[in-house]
Amino acid sequence: MLRIVLLAGIYFVANILAEYPVCDNSEADIALEELIHENVDRLMELRRPGWGWVNTPEVVLSLQLSAAKKFFAVNETIATMDQEVQDEFDSSCIGKKALYVMAVKATCGNPRNFAGFDLVENLRNSIGTQFRYLRRRQESPSHGWYNYGLAIQALCLCNIEIPRSHIVNIIRGQDASGGFGNRKSVVDDTSQVLLALACIKDQSLPTRRRPLMTKLKTAIDKAVGFLQTSRNNELDDFWIGNKFSSPAALLALKETTDLSQSSSWFCNDIARSVSNGLWEDEPEATVAHRLPAMRGRSVLALKDGWTCLDPDSIPEGYQPQYNPEKTLDCSTLLESNGIFSFFLPSIEVQLSVKKTLGSNNSTPYDYTVLVEVEKGFTLLETMAKARCNNQFEFAVQSSSFGSFVTSVDSLEAVASQRQFWSLLDAQTGDFLSVGIDQYKPSHRDHILFKLSVY
Ligand SMILES: *[C@@H]1O[C@H](CO)[C@@H](O)[C@H](O)[C@H]1NC(C)=O
Ligand SMILES: *[C@@H]1O[C@H](CO)[C@@H](O)[C@H](O)[C@H]1NC(C)=O
Repeated sequence: MLRIVLLAGIYFVANILAEYPVCDNSEADIALEELIHENVDRLMELRRPGWGWVNTPEVVLSLQLSAAKKFFAVNETIATMDQEVQDEFDSSCIGKKALYVMAVKATCGNPRNFAGFDLVENLRNSIGTQFRYLRRRQESPSHGWYNYGLAIQALCLCNIEIPRSHIVNIIRGQDASGGFGNRKSVVDDTSQVLLALACIKDQSLPTRRRPLMTKLKTAIDKAVGFLQTSRNNELDDFWIGNKFSSPAALLALKETTDLSQSSSWFCNDIARSVSNGLWEDEPEATVAHRLPAMRGRSVLALKDGWTCLDPDSIPEGYQPQYNPEKTLDCSTLLESNGIFSFFLPSIEVQLSVKKTLGSNNSTPYDYTVLVEVEKGFTLLETMAKARCNNQFEFAVQSSSFGSFVTSVDSLEAVASQRQFWSLLDAQTGDFLSVGIDQYKPSHRDHILFKLSVY
């Protein structure tokens, strides 16, 4: 008895003292390894019938960095990437191009010759036009700092010398707080630029002038400062920025700070919050971002001596089959109204639409419908049910962060005019905290679809 108590005590203490690889370069312990596997399982649930994902290169990169052994059927996915590159590489933004370059490198392919393309040369040509007005200070690259940071990382990892003009532009683009962002500094953009700077700093090129390198080191220190002061806590959780921006920030700090000091900025607490973050029905992108931070391995690991492993074989009975659109057709939705629905409680949800911009308190919405669905339906399924009843019309687009509404009642949000459809709790006026494919309405919920501008 005493022995059990003692052992439990030791386990408890060990658990409290558990360190995270991203904070001290240790190996993942058993508990963390278990959490990593749960995240990998979620990505495998989200695998599409063609063995890819919504954002295939992002998931490939994530799995190769964090759990390559568990990435079964990697060759099938590489074949899918080959097709995707032929179809869409040329028209992709620089961030997506960079993800393909790094994903090919992470699977030990040759990004200079993949699917008949020299991906590296193509990306190198596309970064040339990112800054149009070289003299203006604090200008943002045309695809944004996040994508630009990814592009510089990818080129740097392929041993391309980053032109001096780009380093100068990055230093000029940093704002007084030390961060990067389009109109104001944000953690997501800053983390990607910081990782890019860390990679450039380690390129030992004889052509680099010392004054420029000194400025670059200063820029790194300032960006580190921005991230460390962006720490937040929310109940028991610690974040850098928020839950979604924390994984990349942890990795950027790991590559640029002295890890023996990591406790001073609560690295372990942040890493613990990140590692415990998986929730039910979580979309692809948030899982893919979290995994490398849990393993403590950034893309800079691809630089030298990266090797690939043969993964485990495909689990018996596994079929990649994630297809969110399938559950939305009327035959599937009405089928669930059959005999079994007798046992399932049904709930009533109100959907309202406001199509005119600007506030007009006299008409909080243009029209409203009531729809009855089974308890447990997502908001997206609820909307689809209303559509089957000819009550409501909408279109959605899927992204790696889940589905989002592009039009309601044939009225499309015009992206070039910064319009979007916001989804609000009509009673409180608050934005819904999760996307339409995760939000599960309760009885008498009232959801407002409101055309808005950002
Ligand atoms: C995957 O492809 C690589 C390279 O073509 C090959 O060496 C490896 O054996 C393949 N693995 C499987 C499981 O087919
Ligand atoms: C508000 O809505 C009412 C009813 O549709 C309309 O008559 C009025 O002109 C609107 N006011 C504004 C400021 O849009």
